[in-house]
Amino acid sequence: MLIAPSILSADFGHLARDVQAICEGGCDFVHVDVMDGHFVPNLTIGPVVVDAVAKAATKPLDIHLMVENNSFFVDLFAPLKPEYISFHIEAEKHPHRLIQKIRSLEIRPAIVLNPHTPSEAIEFLIEDLDMVLLMSVNPGFGGQKFIPSVLERAVRLKDIIVKRNPKCLIQVDGGVSDKNVHMLAEAGVDVVVAGSYVYKHPEGVAKAIASLKKEGKA
Ligand code: DX5
Ligand code: ZN
Repeated sequence: MLIAPSILSADFGHLARDVQAICEGGCDFVHVDVMDGHFVPNLTIGPVVVDAVAKAATKPLDIHLMVENNSFFVDLFAPLKPEYISFHIEAEKHPHRLIQKIRSLEIRPAIVLNPHTPSEAIEFLIEDLDMVLLMSVNPGFGGQKFIPSVLERAVRLKDIIVKRNPKCLIQVDGGVSDKNVHMLAEAGVDVVVAGSYVYKHPEGVAKAIASLKKEGKA
């Protein structure tokens, strides 16, 4: 299991320190939640702060857009050379065009599905994607309760991926902890995002990442 801690739960007064801690603690990606106050009822960070995150990070950035104007935000963040940019299918009229644009910027394109959106909605986009992110909470906030139907959604998505693009990864975001990561692995999930579990772990972020890796074996 690959681990992408969400810096939304970091201490923003010590952001560089908290980004370095997860990178040194063995994470695989640094998950960056960008919210615009329109698509979701919360507002987070823009390119100035994400630039500081990129400078502190020694692992690739995974930028999760929760915004209405995706193309505008892709242009804002592309110069920071993230590994992935993911955008919500519910917020995009022309997902195929946006995938091509992200790819042309030498960034891996990913699509995010809210808890109500069936995996079948992106069946004909799978061959152009490097990752699909299934939300296991409603996007907008850290620290919410895991929605278990994501397990069935992951199994159904895996069927489509095996048929159409076996290299495409499945990521799950929201309420992930050492208690559910094993079930996610068994459902075929490759990458988990975890914010509050990692940053609020009593033994520190490195222990939290290690326990997600240990429990996240299929
Ligand atoms: C929610 C964000 C998540 C969030 C996860 O909209 O996309 O990445 O930070 O936080 P936890 O792991 O606390 O649910
Ligand atoms: Zn996220």
